[in-house]
Amino acid sequence: NIAPLGIIGLGTMGRNLALNLADHGVPLVAWERDGALADRARSELPDGTIWATEAADLARRLAAPRAVLLMVTAGAAVDAVIDGLRPHLQAGDVIIDGGNTDAADTARRQKNLAADGIHLIGLGVSGGEEGARRGPALMAGGDPAAWDRIAPMLRSIAARAADGTPCCERMGGGAAGHFVKTVHNGIEYAVMQALAESYDLMRHGLGLEMAAIGETFATWNRGPGGGYLVEIAADVVRTRDSDGAPLLDKVVDRAGQKGTGRWASLAALDLGVAAPSIAEAVFARAVSAARDDRQALAADTPDRVQIAPTDLEAAMRAATLLSFLQGFALIAAADARDGWAVDPVAVAKVWRAGCILRAPLLDRLADAFASLAPGAHPLSAASLRAELAEILPGLRRTAAAAIGAGYAVPALTSALSWHDGMVRARVPADFLQGLRDRFGAHTFERTDAPGSHHADWSGS
Ligand code: 6PG
Repeated sequence: NIAPLGIIGLGTMGRNLALNLADHGVPLVAWERDGALADRARSELPDGTIWATEAADLARRLAAPRAVLLMVTAGAAVDAVIDGLRPHLQAGDVIIDGGNTDAADTARRQKNLAADGIHLIGLGVSGGEEGARRGPALMAGGDPAAWDRIAPMLRSIAARAADGTPCCERMGGGAAGHFVKTVHNGIEYAVMQALAESYDLMRHGLGLEMAAIGETFATWNRGPGGGYLVEIAADVVRTRDSDGAPLLDKVVDRAGQKGTGRWASLAALDLGVAAPSIAEAVFARAVSAARDDRQALAADTPDRVQIAPTDLEAAMRAATLLSFLQGFALIAAADARDGWAVDPVAVAKVWRAGCILRAPLLDRLADAFASLAPGAHPLSAASLRAELAEILPGLRRTAAAAIGAGYAVPALTSALSWHDGMVRARVPADFLQGLRDRFGAHTFERTDAPGSHHADWSGS
């Protein structure tokens, strides 16, 4: 018995991808070490599925050149599985890592496996459990020929954009796929935080009931700022516990995180690129996690605040758009360093369906990026400037009112500050240079003469 694709790891994501692949007629060799997970997958996958008992067995049952999809927890488990598999693979075989793996790990493993001619495709998989089962967005990175060989199988299971294009694309060479997925998650953090701030302002600032907040999110979802996260925001606020009370009111206000938002923020810091809305969203989760301190320090809930509902909707749209643009700037900077040749149009298109960030905005972003000259900043796209001209005033008024009343709105304000900094020809960094040179002789550049300069800055 021989199959074209092996899958290792049949936890939630692996099992759902395997079921999706089976639905699309892809014969599988499956291997799962955990007895309970294996039993569950065995009971759901079709009879034709070949079950392997160990790495050598899995490799034997695969048609060469082999393709093996790893759906194991990112980190040390991936290294362990690759180490176990490697002696049974040969040059030309492809390993696909479908986990939320740090791009740096993927780059390291690609280099290491290349010594044996084995390809590693880093595959970002988005859409959660439901997406994996019914159609995820798939963001690949790695060798183009290796990708072309396995792409038809993965394309068949991916979500499709409204124009029918599968959301399954090679984003570029090396670790581009995993990096694009990391940035996807970073933007996911930022948009979720902006939604949380909008919810807070509606609940406490405007004093709205959950039903009215749910209605507002549902209305936003039907407009130009709609998208999957806004859609499920309506569901989350409307959900009631068995006693009829809003379930959210019984949820501990401490957000978890598995690390991808942190990685995106670290990448921004490493690259010297501003992605403040992503980083602020990670910090906001840290503030949420400091629950004991918050309870000890707690002041009164801020007062009611006057915000026009149309301004709040505009604020949410602007924060979302600006968070996306920060993410794209981050991808561009990593690409410039690592040479993956990522096309931002392809990134926007692959996010149009299947993933958590799916939203009509992605079509507008794809069109905007297509209109840009190579190297031009995304904020310079005429269509995006026009959209921002319409919604930025609402963000300004919302942010000002929220801050004035004492609400913490870091996703909204960081998006605004990022924009306002980026559109200033002259920022006060001349002043920073003056201070640096004054206390540390760090030197400065002059606008009217070349070279580096030092002054005595004694005030005269
Ligand atoms: C996706 C999600 C998925 C996962 C996040 C959650 O694209 O399907 O992003 O990857 O749900 O990793 O991240 P946190 O647990 O860190 O919020």
